[in-house]
Amino acid sequence: MPVITVPESFNEDDLYVDLRWSFGYSLFLKCEGFNFAGSIKLKAATEMVDSAERDGLLRPDSILVESSSGNLGVALSMIAASRGYRFLCVTDSRCNLATRRAIEALGNEVHIITEPDPDDGFLGARIGHVRALCASDDRYVWLNQYSNANNWRAHYHRTGPEIAAAFPNLDVLFIGAGTTGTLMGCARYFRQWRRPVRVIAIDSVGSVTFGGPAGRRMLPGLGTSVRPQLLDESYVDEVIPVAETDAVRACHRLARNGFLFGGSTGTVVSGATGWLSTHDTHHLTAVAIAPDLGERYLDTIYQTNWLQGIYGENVLTEPSQAGGRFLS
Ligand SMILES: Cc1ncc(COP(=O)(O)O)c(C=O)c1O
Repeated sequence: MPVITVPESFNEDDLYVDLRWSFGYSLFLKCEGFNFAGSIKLKAATEMVDSAERDGLLRPDSILVESSSGNLGVALSMIAASRGYRFLCVTDSRCNLATRRAIEALGNEVHIITEPDPDDGFLGARIGHVRALCASDDRYVWLNQYSNANNWRAHYHRTGPEIAAAFPNLDVLFIGAGTTGTLMGCARYFRQWRRPVRVIAIDSVGSVTFGGPAGRRMLPGLGTSVRPQLLDESYVDEVIPVAETDAVRACHRLARNGFLFGGSTGTVVSGATGWLSTHDTHHLTAVAIAPDLGERYLDTIYQTNWLQGIYGENVLTEPSQAGGRFLS
């Protein structure tokens, strides 16, 4: 029986859903949403705060500040509350209400950016706001998930080894790319593992991470409007861009099978099943990472008015644009 005293001590790191029955392909989905922060960002947040404490960067009056589309904000809020720091989350108008409320319920503050930077989008505007805060008061400490090596180290030390232990015959690993912390940590780990693993990055159409043209993206978590500093493409074997309409269709398909996941999981599942549909999957062991669960998205991805307002009336019925082909 696990008994804990601080919330960050608990993380379910050994749970996989086999999508064979719902999608027709044997794809093992690693569930990262079962912890008190509700997402994989707990790992990056813990590693970054632990390291800042070891390096003496945090004082009792420090105020952590971070630009986050939500999940890192919740994870840092939880750790700040548990360790007695204050936290200020800089996000933008696409952040889910439930995420914002969770950060506030944990005793912290949220600043919402409503105007994107003309060149660097919402992310550029959020980072500009964080820089201005740090320049205004030296109690602010910005861990900077976009450039902090402890973001990817969390996955090099934990996520990669967890998958390797569960799947000693792993062949292909599908990972969504936001800051690319999860991608770079796992890719670095598997580059030096005992057998070759194909590491496939899943990105959103409209993201500039891998050099594509910028476009509208409404689902938080994946994709960027500024190229992530952590990314080293030499570790990535393939990149699959997924349209948001395909991502939401995959989310709804998972939900119809009883699995309520977040938008980036739908994106990864759509890209991964599309890839699997064009490859010989006999004897292939494939794993994908599900960064969070679906409850934070009940007012967006799982809400008909929101969905149809953004993507059109037939979003759930029209044929897929790219990638996400499911066997029915
Ligand atoms: C919803 C969601 N999707 C995807 C990711 C992957 O992000 P990253 O590339 O920043 O590790 C995250 C981050 O944890 C997330 O919270």
